Amino acid sequence: MEIIVCKDYEEMSRKAAELSAEGLRQHPDGLLSFAGGDTPLGTVHAFADMVNKGEVDISRAHYVSLDEWVGLSNTDEGSCGLFNEREFFARLEKSFASRHIINGAAVDIEAERDALNAYFAAHGPLTVSVLGIGMNGHLGFNEDGVSFDLDAHIIPLSDTTKRVMSKYFGEKFHPTHGISQGIRQIMAAERVILIANGAHKADIIRQAITGPVTNAVPASVLQNHPNCYVVLDEAAAAKL
Ligand code: F6R
Repeated sequence: MEIIVCKDYEEMSRKAAELSAEGLRQHPDGLLSFAGGDTPLGTVHAFADMVNKGEVDISRAHYVSLDEWVGLSNTDEGSCGLFNEREFFARLEKSFASRHIINGAAVDIEAERDALNAYFAAHGPLTVSVLGIGMNGHLGFNEDGVSFDLDAHIIPLSDTTKRVMSKYFGEKFHPTHGISQGIRQIMAAERVILIANGAHKADIIRQAITGPVTNAVPASVLQNHPNCYVVLDEAAAAKL
């Protein structure tokens, strides 16, 4: 793991975008994935700017979303899909060769999971995976206790995730499950970039990076990844 401590959120975002672009430049026909949520907002914007300025070419590359709340599609407020549409695709002046956004509102959610695995079979493995970390150490919706051997799967949300999710939905929606890329797919990525900012992430970052590798803290599995960057602001790095 290479740990990069940045002075603030802007620097963290720029650094993560540059590392993403560098990874994709090595494999211009590769597969890219960004987490949704608060942390990657600046990274996604910075990466879109780089694409628009011609600093990285996505015309032959593919894009896949990381996860989704079961019950929500890419038109629903608070969904990961809408994050992708609004914060990333709407800003891009160029197109990926193809993209796959998980539809958590699919009537047949198991078929949706299978479609995600099929997309990986066609375009994987991931070239660059940009991840955030949950307060319980989750990656995507790989919640504490998850098997590290899974590909895409549907999983009950942990109590911690259920507590935190009101920041996305208020009281409007109470999801019980997530659909997510699995740890096996994340660990097969050529380059993983884990980003975190803010003092509230300092404890879980310490556990994930300096604690034992355990599915009680899923992000700890990244200690075993051969090409993982951890890009933090000073507050998130404060307990390392
Ligand atoms: C979202 C996702 C989650 C988040 C994590 C951190 O697509 O995969 O694992 O990355 O919950 O969320 P924020 O960035 O909102 O603190």
